[in-house]
Amino acid sequence: MVKIIAATQNSIEKAADILRNGGIVAMPTETVYGLAGNALDDAAVEKIFLAKGRPNFNPLISHFAKLSDIEQHANIDERVKLLAMKFWPGPLTMILPRKKNSTISNRVTAGLDTIAVRIPAHKTARDLIAAAGIPLAAPSANPSGKLSPTSAMHVAQTLGSKIDMILAGGSSEVGLESTIIDLSTDKAIILRHGAIMQQDLEECLNQSVGFSSESSDIKSPGQLLKHYAPSKPIRLNAIDIKSGEALLAFGSIKFMADENGVHAKGLSEDLFRNLSENADLHEAASNLFQMLHDLDKSNASQIAVMNIPDRGLGLAINDRLKRATN
Ligand code: TXA
Ligand code: MG
Repeated sequence: MVKIIAATQNSIEKAADILRNGGIVAMPTETVYGLAGNALDDAAVEKIFLAKGRPNFNPLISHFAKLSDIEQHANIDERVKLLAMKFWPGPLTMILPRKKNSTISNRVTAGLDTIAVRIPAHKTARDLIAAAGIPLAAPSANPSGKLSPTSAMHVAQTLGSKIDMILAGGSSEVGLESTIIDLSTDKAIILRHGAIMQQDLEECLNQSVGFSSESSDIKSPGQLLKHYAPSKPIRLNAIDIKSGEALLAFGSIKFMADENGVHAKGLSEDLFRNLSENADLHEAASNLFQMLHDLDKSNASQIAVMNIPDRGLGLAINDRLKRATN
């Protein structure tokens, strides 16, 4: 299994070398860990698809160091500049019209005439992109359809034998994938909820921003698939604990017990996690994938998840949870 290597100037240089030579490297970002490869190189991109078992039609996000590096690949309008100024570097991905002469591999954009771009905030990701000197295509570093990784260990456990290097940079602070906004047409539309919320985007653009639910639109191909799924079934909005279940709590567990009246406090450690005792949605988001990974390893037959309010960051959390259930 490939070794996890702490991000230092040396190891980042080494990772940059691997990337320039067509290899694939897992890198930390503030959202989740990404599996990076040279976005200009068909063969490197192919390796990413193979390692993840990702269907070919599902395009990847290209990661850049600065806005001026994006200009040669995508059309940048005023909206893009406003959003970039406010939210980049950070957890926002923009879908933009792809320029005809862009040298980004067609495998990255899956033959579409749009391109997904992001400037991440995590220092290691930024240093790596700068050191490599090329745009990096990077989906989340998990096998297709499975839980996203928020630590180097998650990556090692699932993709460890298939990639060239894992750069470690702590656990991902945000813990959920970037918000995706489609700016390829006049009407701005959110394709995936994340830490940058509809209201933030509307305030910045000074216009309304829509949301396209996965069933009504096929603009974000990845959004159609079963996603973010642990191997155990998930039961949402649990108000009690069924026999054999592990519990993923949110907020107070005062009223949570199983049918025998055994209180949630009595669950063994491996069967219980609380996303946030104080019902803080940011804390819950950053814990979500780690705790699902943990409970997935237990001997429970199913994971019961308490209700999480459908507002603010709760929208993004519930989106991931719903996708994990079907
Ligand atoms: O936070 C993130 O976005 C992480 C980190 C590593 O940057 N990356 C990530 O990538 O979540 P991935 O591949 O797991 O999700 C990218 C999503 C997919 O649902 C894909 O279908 C969509 O972006 N996408 C990519 N290019 C697109 C395009 N041109 N049009 C519409 N959707 C696109
Ligand atoms: Mg993903």
